Amino acid sequence: MTENVKQAGNVRKICVLPGDGIGPEIVASALAVLKQVASDAGFAVELHEEAIGGVAIDAFGDPLPEATLRRSLESDAVLLGAVGGPKWDPNPPALKPETGLLGIRKALGLYGNLRPVKMLPTLVDCSTLKPETVSGVDFVVVRELTGGLYFGKPRGVEARDGVEVGFNNMVYSRPEIERIARKAFELARLRRRKVTSVDKANVLEVCQLWRKVVAEVAGEYPDVELEHILVDNCAMQLVLRPTRFDVLLTENMFGDILSDIGGVLTGSIGTLPSASVGDGPALYEPIHGSAPDIAGKDVANPVGTVNSVAMMFEHSFGRPDLARRINDAVCRVLEEGYRTADVAKAGTKTIGTKEFTARIQEKL
Ligand code: IPM
Ligand code: MG
Repeated sequence: MTENVKQAGNVRKICVLPGDGIGPEIVASALAVLKQVASDAGFAVELHEEAIGGVAIDAFGDPLPEATLRRSLESDAVLLGAVGGPKWDPNPPALKPETGLLGIRKALGLYGNLRPVKMLPTLVDCSTLKPETVSGVDFVVVRELTGGLYFGKPRGVEARDGVEVGFNNMVYSRPEIERIARKAFELARLRRRKVTSVDKANVLEVCQLWRKVVAEVAGEYPDVELEHILVDNCAMQLVLRPTRFDVLLTENMFGDILSDIGGVLTGSIGTLPSASVGDGPALYEPIHGSAPDIAGKDVANPVGTVNSVAMMFEHSFGRPDLARRINDAVCRVLEEGYRTADVAKAGTKTIGTKEFTARIQEKL
């Protein structure tokens, strides 16, 4: 599918990967918003839809088909919904939807995953935590995305002396740590100038190297404060006093786990966007999964994906003004009391994905 919103000199190409479960619904919402904002601003975009994850396995026998990869590499940005579902869970690793997602992250060199967790004042009573704890939460998880436990070798399951053994490795080289640390410090300079680096240096050698290298990189940023925190303590602090964090710098799997806590702080994981960045085209996706249990029911929260499009305008297209327009429109719909089921409360009006999207569009 190729769709031109507007033909003009400087056309931005966006590869669209709806994926599985609620992916197609939330991506449809985000595209409606993207097209409207782009066309209002005279900003030319060209959309190309490709398959990834389970739908790609079903259609092409490959969770990351060659055509998808080629198109992504040729694009200015990639928008992804979600991948995975029970149907493909029994598959061998090469035929799992998640292998497609990890494959595209690696192939595009997306080593930095930025996950902003910002409390929207209207949703302060949606968290299971006390309003006084979550009010004012505003941090970004900078998650390393192409190394660590997810990619370390050797990996596998094998028989050793007749006993089945499974193994993975958390591996980081100095350059991998340096580049993600610099991302965190650069970002902190645009915020409250504090980096909290997460590790398990009391036990793991890889984390001792991580801590040492991060401390060295901190020397290049004397205006930014650095603290080190152990991952277990970090998990506790995130629910105890989350407002103390500004930029959280983490290994791949620690970041995966800790960033889900962001969903509890802000009321729903459905509201959280992300940007994955490297040296080529960046990829934008909500941090939640494919939620197969609610797929196709028009109940999914599109805010995480819509706000991922906002991050695209800011980071890939240098238009923070358009990003703000999108974020503000979302806030105003919530302020009027319209909610998808995941953030509904007594006194709010529960509406579906499509109606919520239409209301965002009205506010743009
Ligand atoms: C995420 C997801 C993915 C991850 C899964 C779907 C492979 O949980 O983006 O947080 O673990 O990175
Ligand atoms: Mg995750």
